[in-house]
Amino acid sequence: VIFDGMVLPPFPPLVQDAKKRFEEIRNMEYRKDDIILAIYPKSGTHWVWEIVSMLLKQKAEYSKIPKELFFLEAMPDLSMVESMESPRAVNTHLPYRWLPKQHIENGGKIVHVVRNPKDVCVSLYHHMKNSKEIGEIKDFKTVYGMMFLNQKEKLTDGWFKYEKDFEEAEKNDTRGAIFTVHYESLKKNPIPEISRLANFLNINVKTEEIADIADKCSFKKLKLADETIKDHSGHGDFVDRDKQFVYRKGEIGDWRNHFTVAMNEQFDAIYKEEMKDSDIQTQFE
Ligand code: A3P
Repeated sequence: VIFDGMVLPPFPPLVQDAKKRFEEIRNMEYRKDDIILAIYPKSGTHWVWEIVSMLLKQKAEYSKIPKELFFLEAMPDLSMVESMESPRAVNTHLPYRWLPKQHIENGGKIVHVVRNPKDVCVSLYHHMKNSKEIGEIKDFKTVYGMMFLNQKEKLTDGWFKYEKDFEEAEKNDTRGAIFTVHYESLKKNPIPEISRLANFLNINVKTEEIADIADKCSFKKLKLADETIKDHSGHGDFVDRDKQFVYRKGEIGDWRNHFTVAMNEQFDAIYKEEMKDSDIQTQFE
């Protein structure tokens, strides 16, 4: 699916009418306490969504309903959001300019995650390779091109534009509505990072509970919960869920197993040029 210059995953609502779904999202009605997780694909959306939903419950208890049902561009019917109880936490990969307008105007809270783009690319490659919904992409270079190269077909604006637009929004965000988590920091120091997130969301959770959330949301436990606790029915038909492709490795630095030396040099040069005016602190390892 291509819309507004972006290549998008073929979720049925986007295949049917991407413009319609984008506009519905843009015009979504704002409720006080709404939280939007706006995250580039494969940067840790499932993980952070689970943490946020535990924080909202003030309890380290897995949600039986998977985050896909709160995924704005893919949920079968967007009116499902209306029937959610507040505080609502929804997630999206849409770029900043398409986020719900009222939410932005009202200073609604936005949680954003940045992950080392090289690892994002590897994660995306495996996702695309394994997911029947997306079709057969077997070539790592194709995915690399869609994320980083200046070509016509870029996945959700390409990583650079997506993140730079977000950075710009953060700079203009005088109300402190946007909160950025680094995947690598969350992985290395989950307890302080989850505490920061709880503060941002104005949620009072005891230290022991935070530690429990960190533990329950560790890669292995969350993967197991996804396989055993979550009810994956009710997605409509948009996810052909071969569960393995979301909770794949959950590691920092897997890019070393996929980038050739030449590719890495090319990437570093592109990164330097693209990000020369940016203050984003990407955590490379
Ligand atoms: P890998 O493919 O590198 O393993 P998203 O949820 O945005 O699709 O991102 C998926 C990526 O986040 C996958 O990366 C997945 O393993 C990783 N992930 C999910 N839960 C995680 C956790 N608890 N800790 C670390 N990484 C996690």
